[in-house]
Amino acid sequence: MTDALYEADIDLEPIRSRHVAIIGYGNHGRSHALNMRDMGGERISIALRPGSASIAKAQADGFTVVSIEEAAREADVLSLLAADEAHGQIWADHIAENRKPGQALILCHGFSIEYGVLRPPADCDVILAAAKGPGGAVRSSFEKGGGLVGFWAVTPGSSTTAEPLAKAYLNAIGCGRAGIFPSSFREEALADILGEQAVLVGGMCALARTGFERLTAAGIGPRMAYIDTVHELKYIAELIHDRGIAGMYEAISDTAEFGAHEVEGKISRAVEPVFDAIVEDVTRGDFARRWVADYANDRAWLKAARAKAGEHPLEDAGKELRALLKGSK
Ligand SMILES: NC(=O)c1ccc[n+]([C@@H]2O[C@H](COP(=O)([O-])OP(=O)(O)OC[C@H]3O[C@@H](n4cnc5c(N)ncnc54)[C@H](OP(=O)(O)O)[C@@H]3O)[C@@H](O)[C@H]2O)c1
Repeated sequence: MTDALYEADIDLEPIRSRHVAIIGYGNHGRSHALNMRDMGGERISIALRPGSASIAKAQADGFTVVSIEEAAREADVLSLLAADEAHGQIWADHIAENRKPGQALILCHGFSIEYGVLRPPADCDVILAAAKGPGGAVRSSFEKGGGLVGFWAVTPGSSTTAEPLAKAYLNAIGCGRAGIFPSSFREEALADILGEQAVLVGGMCALARTGFERLTAAGIGPRMAYIDTVHELKYIAELIHDRGIAGMYEAISDTAEFGAHEVEGKISRAVEPVFDAIVEDVTRGDFARRWVADYANDRAWLKAARAKAGEHPLEDAGKELRALLKGSK
């Protein structure tokens, strides 16, 4: 028996009948709000900090914007879709003193609970409703008739209404079209962070950059090197997304496949120790501690790293190529 749930298996009523306040109107906040409204949610408000540049955007989309304090006083459900590392501060400064009794708290990522950034009191139902993917994709996939895969969990001691609410929330943002599965805060947090560091973002960017550097050092022009280490990633990623790695291999040339099988093992052996260190760092909570400290320090390390990344010669090659290409999608 499968543990997957789909649209038709889940009652939307727990969301439709409640006042949902979404805190934050970034990538996820906006997509959740728009999808939920399209799925029949009638009482949705957006809670933002004073002076937020997102106020005008939320209002232009037809939502009522309230303060976070007002949302905490009025809403039945708070969906906290602001920066994870700020969750503790947002709770302490705006929610704790204003909480409506019986109000449930929904999070889209397990980070703040797993690493103790946010410690809601025991009388609060805390729900994980994670749509797995970037916020923009929550909306773009929904508009195409699809949805992102969703994972739910509730903290121990939550009331009996928490689980149906978790499933209804994910269904209301479109995840029921793909599939909704049980998980835990810990599993979701670790998988998300490890996956993005080791493979999806950190690993992939390191391979692409190093590949670009080695190809240009071998005398290949930056334009061609960029195409073969960065630009074409999209096509391979789409094949893997749609068919798996073995299916992708079937769709490429035998030359590419022969070479890839030969080098895969060598690359894997080279990165295994790095991956093991990442797993230890993230699992122990050291990564979270460094990130929370940097956030508190106005993200000084992050800003410096971002500036340095932007100066890599690969970026100029990419800009030049994108300006030259017509109709490359
Ligand atoms: N499960 C998954 O696979 C997945 C993937 C991506 C993201 N997520 C989660 O989704 C949540 C939102 O991420 P996102 O990508 O939507 O972030 P985002 O685009 O950066 O948007 C963040 C929003 O939070 C607001 N915000 C940030 N700091 C705040 C503070 N101190 N006080 C009040 N509001 C604050 C911002 O307000 P302003 O508009 O005023 O700047 C913005 O509206 C996070 O929990 C993230 O981990 C989950």
